[in-house]
Amino acid sequence: MTSKTTSKSSYSDHIVSDVWIAVEALRKGECVALPTETVYGLAADATNDKAIAKIYELKQRPQFNPLIVHVPDIIVAQQTVQFNDNAFKLAKAFWPAPLTFVLPIHPDSTVSKLAAAGLDTLAVRIPADRTMHSVLKKLDQSVVAPSANLSGTASPTTAQHVLDSFGNNAPLILDGGACEHGLESTVIDLSDPQKPTLLRPGPITIEQISKVLGQTVITSQQSKISSPGMLEKHYSIGLPLRLNAHTAEADEFFLAFGKTSFSHPHSINLSESGNLTEAAANLFSALHDIKNKSIKAKLKKVAIMPIPMEGIGIAINDRLNRAAKT
Ligand code: TXA
Ligand code: MG
Repeated sequence: MTSKTTSKSSYSDHIVSDVWIAVEALRKGECVALPTETVYGLAADATNDKAIAKIYELKQRPQFNPLIVHVPDIIVAQQTVQFNDNAFKLAKAFWPAPLTFVLPIHPDSTVSKLAAAGLDTLAVRIPADRTMHSVLKKLDQSVVAPSANLSGTASPTTAQHVLDSFGNNAPLILDGGACEHGLESTVIDLSDPQKPTLLRPGPITIEQISKVLGQTVITSQQSKISSPGMLEKHYSIGLPLRLNAHTAEADEFFLAFGKTSFSHPHSINLSESGNLTEAAANLFSALHDIKNKSIKAKLKKVAIMPIPMEGIGIAINDRLNRAAKT
């Protein structure tokens, strides 16, 4: 894809819907933004060092933050990382799914060392999105893919969000419509069979995982294990967020959830019926919208209603809390 430097990027310059165009670009060592069931990913051939280096450069991502390897099936997953009983149980119960395992790198793995960012473990998942799956099958190779946005900003759930994030530097983007879940995958460290540890809450909940494992899953706060990516600045929309608000001031945008009697000229409701799955799917889209609308209306802050800490609400609160810190 030739990037234009003189004029503003337009939709048609970068966005395609033909899977083969994306596959050919990946084969040539380009980075391509691909749809997944969680968020759009900035993908590169997992065995190509140069292509992976471009991901870090384009995203302006710290080099110590490792990437998720997206594999087409469980056979390739087992050639990439060393499976154990917990991994087999979870793969059988959930994959393909928004669930990522961190496991020791397989000695015969052909994945670039850059993907692990110096660690002796790798993160792997089989994505459920049909377009993404079709790319993996046609490419006949795994791809690494972090979220397709500039590091530190809100993740993209549409092709347009990817274009907005990268502007004139946007890569080729394969449009697969809006992402089903709208929140990044759950990440679980399974490298210690005695101590499965949740590194990032996501669409598959800790309760679902514990039930399948028949074992308590601890959170990264309870253990010394942490994920490099959880330390960095995240999900910023360039405005301060005020959480657990029930009303908003005149200079604030109001992000509502569920029923509310409060009305405000600048507001979005994540789910009027109070459905957490719907709220998760709408969250990043709402943050992108709020950013654009607040600039136009010269608003200074975002007031956000409380979201229940249950099921996928835990992942929504995780993202909001981290966005509020930036
Ligand atoms: O849903 C998703 O997971 C999306 C889509 C594109 O698949 N991808 C995504 O990637 O969210 P990214 O790079 O934004 O987040 C990956 C997270 C980071 O927090 C990273 O630190 C962590 O996974 N991670 C990756 N490899 C790891 C490893 N070996 N050990 C611990 N954490 C790891
Ligand atoms: Mg990300």
